[in-house]
Amino acid sequence: MHVVIINGSPRVQKYSNTDKIIASFVKGLSKKGASFETYAISNRKSWEIIRDAYIKNEEILIALPLYVECIPGLLLEFLETLPRKNEHTRISFLLQSGFAEGCQLRCGEEFLAKLPEYLGVRYGGCLVKGDNFGIRLLNEEKQEQITKPYQAMGELFTEGDGFLREEAKKFTGPEYFPLPVRLIMQLVFKTFGKKMFQKAAASWGCAVPLDKKIWG
Ligand SMILES: Cc1cc2nc3c(=O)[nH]c(=O)nc-3n(C[C@H](O)[C@H](O)[C@H](O)COP(=O)(O)O)c2cc1C
Repeated sequence: MHVVIINGSPRVQKYSNTDKIIASFVKGLSKKGASFETYAISNRKSWEIIRDAYIKNEEILIALPLYVECIPGLLLEFLETLPRKNEHTRISFLLQSGFAEGCQLRCGEEFLAKLPEYLGVRYGGCLVKGDNFGIRLLNEEKQEQITKPYQAMGELFTEGDGFLREEAKKFTGPEYFPLPVRLIMQLVFKTFGKKMFQKAAASWGCAVPLDKKIWG
């Protein structure tokens, strides 16, 4: 198996959490003897090369972060430049996000599931997982620890069913947190979290409260 992996994050590779996740995923591919080539759409100058790889290959994996509940705008722009192919080509997705509950990513997942049909290709499923806000802030050793589970998904991918298998579905973790956990998180966000966001905003030059109503 040879996989073309496209990082769909607008963040440059050095700061991209998706990049660190891909690094772990490909270890799983290599372990099972699959080969791969990786690309990132963050630099528009490379789009022609990526498009060429998409055209010439049949196993495509787009790994992307959830941005504002859906797909990063830059990735949408890139996807619009892809030509239609046929069912010999398969696209799978690895969708990752900051918030940890699976329910946060379902809208993005549904959107992605529709894309292959538009491009005339087969759908290989979507691996869905949150809780990734902080990866890029950790040192290399901790990054490897936190992204390690993706290696097993790389191994699974080589078995040929994309992410359509039960193991991939289970990888998401809890769909919703239990009510007590949600209540505690709400409290933390409304107190400590709010203060932290306000402090960060102030350090970037914001002089008004973050919840100030501008209209009406
Ligand atoms: C502009 C922006 C919007 C985001 N929106 C969401 C969101 O709606 N839900 C969520 O769970 N995480 C959201 N996140 C968090 C990212 O999905 C998460 O940090 C991801 O790991 C970033 O991957 P990247 O560094 O490769 O771009 C957002 C991050 C940014 C920068």
